[in-house]
Amino acid sequence: MILVTGGAGFIGSHFVLDWFEQKSEPIVNLDALTYAGNPANLAPLQGNSNHALIKGDIGDSALVESLLQTHKPRAIVNFAAESHVDRSIHGPGDFIQTNIVGTFRLLESVRAYWGALPDADKNAFRFLHISTDEVYGSLAPTDAPFSETHRYEPNSPYSASKAASDHLVRAYHHTYGLPVLTTNCSNNYGPLHFPEKLIPLCIHNALTGKPLPIYGDGQQVRDWLYVRDHCSAIRRVLEAGKVGEVYNVGGWNEKPNLDVVRTLCRVLDELSPRSDNKSYTEQITYVKDRPGHDRRYAIDASKIERELGWRPAETFESGIRKTVRWYLDNAAWVESVTSGAYKNWTAKQYA
Ligand code: NAD
Ligand code: DAU
Repeated sequence: MILVTGGAGFIGSHFVLDWFEQKSEPIVNLDALTYAGNPANLAPLQGNSNHALIKGDIGDSALVESLLQTHKPRAIVNFAAESHVDRSIHGPGDFIQTNIVGTFRLLESVRAYWGALPDADKNAFRFLHISTDEVYGSLAPTDAPFSETHRYEPNSPYSASKAASDHLVRAYHHTYGLPVLTTNCSNNYGPLHFPEKLIPLCIHNALTGKPLPIYGDGQQVRDWLYVRDHCSAIRRVLEAGKVGEVYNVGGWNEKPNLDVVRTLCRVLDELSPRSDNKSYTEQITYVKDRPGHDRRYAIDASKIERELGWRPAETFESGIRKTVRWYLDNAAWVESVTSGAYKNWTAKQYA
């Protein structure tokens, strides 16, 4: 079996759902169920005895050690993190705690468990750490996309905390021989995406008649990847990645934020027109920029294609249509995650 952490969040829950569409190998899913973790994401797995969701913190060494001893996983896929840049600007503490201290504690628990395994199991074991392209910092318009050897230059508390976790993972390989793999991925989008991030926030705001907030001039560029493509890349790295290596994962889909939001509006205009028949683009509103806002990210995903034969399956157009359709069909999910504390967050962030 494998141990997945953070598997009730956006990407983690897709990874778990996708896994059981491909195979039956059991998963123990350790998730602290913060505001971003949602057991409802895993509803299709109800009654599946190969999946167990355990509420707990990756930094809780006693719990993690007991899970390792009880279930004896052959691999760990570490998604657990605080993941929203804007929240890291308002309050970096949780990011330091989970992304750095939590990853450190998890690595320590795993090192003890792995060190006691018989040789064959030791060699076969993998610790796959899920990270982000944001650790590389910001690109100028004509710079080449990030390769795996690009220097680390994180600019937000979030990306700095992820960079620290990447360094710890690397160090546990070089110092202790722990068989690690790291993936650094670009911006994901798709169903089950918490509506604090640009794409789900704009879909939700569009449909509820609220402004579509564009930070600064809206010309910041991100490289968008459909979430299930990220999941297939992670599976591929887990099965065939070379120990100690880093793989960049991206969609070859660089787009300025304003283009992304205009595309969303166009798809919404077609699938769910406004009652006044005006375009949702009318709701686009320029707001104060994010402090320290990175201008451009772009991933060179040629290593994972060359060495592991992985390429994304979705285009941006096909992925966005699937995503918008999902949000239209799943109003109850959106309703359940946008009450209560979510309102406090948006009031604070967009005041
Ligand atoms: P998310 O915020 O949607 O989910 C994070 C999950 O981790 C939640 O279920 C949360 O409850 C859980 N969690 C938080 N702290 C925990 C702790 N201390 N112990 C156990 N569980 C904890 O995040 P996401 O967008 O699904 O991102 C998953 C991972 O992928 C993160 O490591 C993130 O840095 C990385 N990543 C995200 C993107 C993206 O575009 N979303 C891109 C590249 C990499
Ligand atoms: O690049 C990978 C990263 O992508 C992941 O590591 C992060 O976990 C993930 O949250 C994402 O980070 P971003 O900051 O790029 O994503 P976000 O959706 O918050 O913002 C995307 C872009 O849109 C960014 O340039 C900021 C801008 N934006 C965002 C919001 C929420 C706006 O213009 N308005 C908004 O209201």
